[in-house]
Amino acid sequence: MRTQVVIVGGGPSGLLLGQLLHKAGIETVVLERKSRAYVLGRIRAGVLERGLVGLMREAGVDARMTAEGYVHDGTLIAYDGDMFRVDFTKHTDATVLVYGQTEVTRDLYAARDDIGAKTHFEVENVVIEDADSDHPFVAFREGGVDQRIDCDFVAGCDGFHGVSRKTIPADVRREYEKVYPFGWLGILSETPPVNDELIYANSDRGFALCSMRNANLSRYYIQCDASDNADNWSDEAFWTELRKRIPASVADSLVTGPSIEKSIAPLRSFVTEPMRWGRLFLCGDAAHIVPPTGAKGLNTAASDVHYLYQGLRQFYAEGDAAGLDAYSAQALARVWKTERFSWWFSNLMHHAPGQSDFDKKMQLAELAFLRDSPEAQASFALNYVGLPY
Ligand code: APR
Ligand code: PHB
Repeated sequence: MRTQVVIVGGGPSGLLLGQLLHKAGIETVVLERKSRAYVLGRIRAGVLERGLVGLMREAGVDARMTAEGYVHDGTLIAYDGDMFRVDFTKHTDATVLVYGQTEVTRDLYAARDDIGAKTHFEVENVVIEDADSDHPFVAFREGGVDQRIDCDFVAGCDGFHGVSRKTIPADVRREYEKVYPFGWLGILSETPPVNDELIYANSDRGFALCSMRNANLSRYYIQCDASDNADNWSDEAFWTELRKRIPASVADSLVTGPSIEKSIAPLRSFVTEPMRWGRLFLCGDAAHIVPPTGAKGLNTAASDVHYLYQGLRQFYAEGDAAGLDAYSAQALARVWKTERFSWWFSNLMHHAPGQSDFDKKMQLAELAFLRDSPEAQASFALNYVGLPY
């Protein structure tokens, strides 16, 4: 087999890149380790920056998100019994769209079906070969048969646990990591959201977040021990703890119900440099991870996809490799800024084990500054709606 770009990983990064490249007349093949059903069974965050919404529109895959997504022009931050709102449109010309990432992935798969592009599911033993040559190829096993795809380029969109990052030699890679000493216990419930905007809460019992997917599908999180297990939490225990972490006025209107999903996510900041090695380009979680506090996971993958799409389009249309040569530095410049915001917001809103009284005072002072300062809120808003590409 031969194609122009092999995309390793059929998550949102790989699918969005494939859709954009198709619009530019560039052929792709996607190799996905899991089944489509498994990929679409993943529950992920649900806040889309303006940049990602724009890319979905550019890819022609924005119809459902426009019809079903919720435009949010602000968010609420609760602390110390108080709650204030950051108005995005007061400080930026942008809003965010609340639309589940699972739905983004579903829409992208449907769009890939419509263009008849090739996706290999449940592949095994993917190996990226000769990435540092002009003739890379990808070997893999499908249905017990060894296969090979020769290509011009490989896009490593296979997430944190994929093979792409590790294809870059260890003596070439530089990795940066911070593992947070707590996790997020999240539930999905078929109940009306407690508020029409998100509520991020820093309580003296720990962090909580009230989010949603639609008018009858709510998503809630509470900070838990990094070693905790979702099985340790009955629904009732979760609801009781959540009520204690949000303002009483909000807790009084909370509608509870059985969880239809309950899981714990670890919190990690991670970046690998460079994001390119020869004809291999890393995109999304394959290159970087953020704690979910700022909802930046898919949104940072989106800017990678934008830069790589533009570089590949320029190469094939004009024979100019300048965009590809600039990719790693350009992508990393924005990655590090979103890593910083996610790290800052995580430290502001969580209570780390053993946190000193002084550190708690610093959090309260920063939250009071954010509440009272238009300039601080402008900085928050600009980061939350998404830094420019
Ligand atoms: N071969 C083929 N596919 C692989 C391999 C492999 N060796 N390893 C992993 N994969 C697949 C996974 O099964 C997954 O479907 O790559 C895909 C990677 O998808 P994500 O982990 O979702 O990463 P990405 O597409 O970069 O998405 C970035 O979006 O999913 C949200 O918030 C999430 O931060 C994440 C963001
Ligand atoms: C979610 O709805 O899952 C969500 C929203 C905002 C975040 C994180 C997760 O910051």
